[in-house]
Amino acid sequence: MPFSIEKVIRPNILALAPYRCARDDYSEGVLLDANENAYGPALPTKREGELNRYPDPYHARIKERVIKLRNVPSVRHVFLGVGSDEVIDLLIRVACVPGKDKILITPPTYGMYSVCAQINDVGVVRSNLDVEGGAYQLRLDDIAACLKANPEIKIVFLCSPGNPTGTALTHKSIRAVLESGYEGIVVVDEAYVDFVDHDDGTVSTWVDKYPNLIVMQTLSKSFGLAGIRLGIALGNPDLIQILNNTKAPYNIGTPSATIAYEALSDEGLATMNSYRSALINQRNILIKRFTSFPVQGLGNILGTNDANFILIEVLDKNNKPCNVRAEKVYSLLAESLGVVVRFRGKEHGCFGCLRITVGTDQDNKILLEQLEKALKTV
Ligand SMILES: Cc1ncc(COP(=O)(O)O)c(C=O)c1O
Repeated sequence: MPFSIEKVIRPNILALAPYRCARDDYSEGVLLDANENAYGPALPTKREGELNRYPDPYHARIKERVIKLRNVPSVRHVFLGVGSDEVIDLLIRVACVPGKDKILITPPTYGMYSVCAQINDVGVVRSNLDVEGGAYQLRLDDIAACLKANPEIKIVFLCSPGNPTGTALTHKSIRAVLESGYEGIVVVDEAYVDFVDHDDGTVSTWVDKYPNLIVMQTLSKSFGLAGIRLGIALGNPDLIQILNNTKAPYNIGTPSATIAYEALSDEGLATMNSYRSALINQRNILIKRFTSFPVQGLGNILGTNDANFILIEVLDKNNKPCNVRAEKVYSLLAESLGVVVRFRGKEHGCFGCLRITVGTDQDNKILLEQLEKALKTV
């Protein structure tokens, strides 16, 4: 494996002496080391957890549950971030020298990779997915050509299942990138991976084999906990250590940590699994209803529907995909009909498309009714 951490991590980050506090060494006794408020939290009612104290910087007990769930060897392979969004930003900051280095993304893809790159003054190279017929798979030759032409690319961001494509990348193609001889970091963003119901699901167990692989997951989707902001990075312990050295010392707050720990309990996992099955079931019902919609205007469902949303074309009166009508349907739904979906027609390979999140049975009934009204109106 040609991966060398010295080649991919910025020298100032490698040389970093991480912030240390007295509690890294001593955590028992009368705690007068961290300028906390010993009287307690200014809250009208008592809450669980010592909220007047700074949280645990590393949350080993949450990580113990993560490694059991995702089959990774040790807690040293796990980093916890304030959502995957913090992980994306941190990865770019530790690897890419502003004004010099670049990342590679594969549009259509999640918007935060390029937003974080821009914030950090890092260039973005685009290798579009094969969008023919809504295939949404990697073009491996093009990725290889981009990497060759741009040796400054430090990170490749792959998204599987993709957003907005809803399509899992084949394991074969992800493996091909990892085995291409590329010396930078390969991130596989698996925010939606629990909604995949075939064999090309998570690659979390690969982190032991590929030292340059980072798998990102989150509690925001299948676990229904977008509000607590808990993202997960799985990877080789040297890379994970770099992320730990660089993060803000107490990035995960106590309430979020307490809830995450509960969500990863056996009972929490059983609930997650039942919601996951319900959402997959609702996804199948919606697909069926969209394919025999009573009103003219819905076209192909694109991609392979591996996430908790559906990407669908809106057609003009001549049955051609149409951004103008899609945008009108989107606005009418949101402004007058009480349903908010996402217009994605300006993304590469998504012409005329709306991205519709799968809701509850009740949500979906309302969506179908209102979509029918919207298509009759515009
Ligand atoms: C592909 C993808 N990655 C990451 C995220 C962000 O996840 P988090 O809530 O963990 O920051 C999203 C959110 O929509 C997403 O679609």
